[in-house]
Amino acid sequence: MQSAELSVAREAALKGGEIVRRYFHEGVEIRTKESFNLVSDADVESEHVIADSIRRAFPGHAVLGEEAHRDDVTSEHLWIVDPLDGTNNFAHKIPHFAVSIAYWRHGKPECGVIYQPMTGDWFTAVRGQGAEKNDQPLRVDATVGLNESLIGVGFYYDRGSVMEATLAAMGDLFRTHIHGIRRFGAATLDLCAVATGQFGAFFEYELSPWDWAAGLLIVEEAGGRVTTCLGRPVPIERTSILATNGAIHDQVLDVVSARFPVQNA
Ligand code: IPD
Ligand code: CA
Ligand code: CA
Repeated sequence: MQSAELSVAREAALKGGEIVRRYFHEGVEIRTKESFNLVSDADVESEHVIADSIRRAFPGHAVLGEEAHRDDVTSEHLWIVDPLDGTNNFAHKIPHFAVSIAYWRHGKPECGVIYQPMTGDWFTAVRGQGAEKNDQPLRVDATVGLNESLIGVGFYYDRGSVMEATLAAMGDLFRTHIHGIRRFGAATLDLCAVATGQFGAFFEYELSPWDWAAGLLIVEEAGGRVTTCLGRPVPIERTSILATNGAIHDQVLDVVSARFPVQNA
C-alpha cells in the first residue's frame, strides 16, 4: 500500500501519538469544553503537531481538526484530523484511544490512518488499494449474520433525545438476539473493529467528520458498508453513522432508522 499522502499521514500520526502517550503516562489536566465534552493539552498539542506536518508537506491543503483547525470543508484537498479520539477513556486512564488522520479529495476519501499509541497498532487504507492492520490485509467478516453479531455503539455528549434514541435502539437490537453490544469509547477504533470483523456493525446517531473520516475508508476498503443511520451517503458534516460488514446492513438499518432522534432528521 503506497501513497504520498499515506506516508505523511503516518508520520504525523506517529508524532501526535507520541504526545498523547507521554501525557497519558505523565498525567495532564482535563478541562470541560462544553457539557460532558472533555479536552486536554494532549488533544491540543497533538493536533498542532499533526497540522504542522501536513502543512509542511502540502502547503495550501485545507485542514479540519477537532480542536483548532476549521478550514473550508469544500476545499479540493482536505485533511480531517482527530488528534485524540477517546478523550473520556484517556481522562479515566483507560488506554483505549487513537489518533485519526484522513485525506479527502473532491469530497471523497483517498487515504486514512488510525494509530493506537498505547498498543502500537496501525489501521490504514488507500482508496482502491484495500485496508490493512499493521501491514496485513483487513477484511470485514461478511459471513456473520445479525444473530451472531457483536454490535458497537457510541453516545454523543448529548443527554437528551440522542441518548434516549440510542438506548431505545440498543434495546431493539438486543431483542433481535445479537451476541452483544459494546461501548468502547473511541468511534475511530469502533470503525476499525468493523473492518477487522470483530463487530458486525457500529452505529452512532451523532458524530463529527474527524470521528469517522479515516474509519469510513478503512471499513469500505475492508469490504464493508457505511451510510448514515437513515441509509444515506455520509455528508462531510456532523452526522449519524452506520458501518457494517455489508451483509447485515439493511437489517441493522431497519432498527436504527426507526429510532432515529427526531431533532436530527
Ligand atoms: C468521541 C468518541 C466517542 C463517541 C463520541 C465522540 P472524542 O470523540 O469517539 O466514542 O461516542 O461521540 O465525540 O471527543 O473522544 O474525540
Ligand atoms: Ca473523536
Ligand atoms: Ca478528539
